Amino acid sequence: MRIVLVGPPGAGKGTQAAYLAQNLEIPHISTGDLFRANISQGTPLGVEAKSYMDAGNLVPDSVTIGMAEDRMAQDDAAGGFLLDGFPRNLGQAKALDEYLKGKGLKLDAVLDLEVPEDEVVKRIAGRRICRNDSSHVFHVEYNKPKAEGVCDVCGGELYQRDDDREATVRKRLEVYHTETEPIIDYYKAQGLVVTIPALGKVAEVTQRAMAALERGE
Ligand code: AP5
Ligand code: ZN
Repeated sequence: MRIVLVGPPGAGKGTQAAYLAQNLEIPHISTGDLFRANISQGTPLGVEAKSYMDAGNLVPDSVTIGMAEDRMAQDDAAGGFLLDGFPRNLGQAKALDEYLKGKGLKLDAVLDLEVPEDEVVKRIAGRRICRNDSSHVFHVEYNKPKAEGVCDVCGGELYQRDDDREATVRKRLEVYHTETEPIIDYYKAQGLVVTIPALGKVAEVTQRAMAALERGE
């Protein structure tokens, strides 16, 4: 299966992607995690991406599309993938279509996680991620680690993302509305969008998403 997850910053894309990818036995590909791994390794790509991320802007397509395609190509044999945070504007959506067309493949579904804005602000304010791997995600209230400040998965230190400061979050939400939301209409025209109400417990949201995929919506 080839699935795209969309939704505002803090909607729970990374959290859901981890469970969905496990259930569906497909790789979870997050462009945000790829950028953060490059930043922690100090690569030139990471240095370039960080300035855009800290300002709440999108990293340019010239950098992002190539990185995403390289990552997808590594999983050609896996029989699918779950994309989290890519595509994020119309240029990226069209580039993804071209990439898949070139391989004789297509998307199966686009899951749109729907969460009110006041809830995403609360989710982001309390989010803590792991220094070793930014896909290890917790929340100080809603998804507490067993020991405060310590990652359940690997024992790494938990910290607040640089782009989770209030001013940057406001900018990220604005960028989501202007640049990313148009891809939802683009995919609706292809009959691919399934809206998943994403309020409620993490496991409940996963169940809703799995049920929608099983119904073949
Ligand atoms: P990215 O890392 O993709 O960030 P984002 O899209 O803003 O999404 P988030 O990671 O903030 O949230 P999420 O939806 O994954 O929520 P999470 O599961 O963590 O991108 C960061 C930056 O990188 C971008 O701003 C851009 O600069 C750049 N970038 C990335 N991709 C790009 C691209 N394609 N093109 C250009 N630039 C790109 O959950 C949030 C919190 O809520 C957590 O604490 C979690 O524990 C909690 N939570 C989750 N589910 C629930 C629930 N059901 N109930 C209560 N709490 C919950
Ligand atoms: Zn960890």
